[in-house]
Amino acid sequence: MAQDHAASPNKADITSVAVRTGIDLQINGERFRHTGDPQMPLLWYLRDVLRLTGTKYGGEHGEGGADLVLVEGKATSAITTPMSKLEDKKVVTVEGLADAKGGLHPLQQAFIDEDAIGCGYCTAGWLIASMDLLNRVKDPSDNDIDTLPNLCRCGCQTRVRKAVKRAAAAIKQGAKA
Ligand code: FES
Repeated sequence: MAQDHAASPNKADITSVAVRTGIDLQINGERFRHTGDPQMPLLWYLRDVLRLTGTKYGGEHGEGGADLVLVEGKATSAITTPMSKLEDKKVVTVEGLADAKGGLHPLQQAFIDEDAIGCGYCTAGWLIASMDLLNRVKDPSDNDIDTLPNLCRCGCQTRVRKAVKRAAAAIKQGAKA
């Protein structure tokens, strides 16, 4: 009886391939590999896969700024950034601003001290955009702060200005100490 050799390939014909391929990236200091759809927006990866729900949906084009995260230190819309763009990138979300022991970043403390939080929906986005600003401008003016793309339906803009200036002063003082 004739045997069907097509079903059992010779071992020499088998090329080894990586068991799982994916997109490797770092989020809040931890390494992750995304093995799903490369076009998945970062926002859904953070919220639905990692359950990091601090970053919010702010419109399909990220127009409200609630979806901002830091990518390589720059404020970046998580809804308009697909996972395919994040190979080997470092991402920091609002959950990553506190220090390793959970101590608040001076910016987070300043938002609390200045009562710059209403319902809180926009707050993560403000914090991330403000971090980006403070990385570039050590002593930001009201005009600098007004360039941030964030929207707040609770009317916190004035208190956000105070909070960002307070944080800038605290960071400066910390740097001197
Ligand atoms: S605090 Fe409510 S939208 Fe800004």
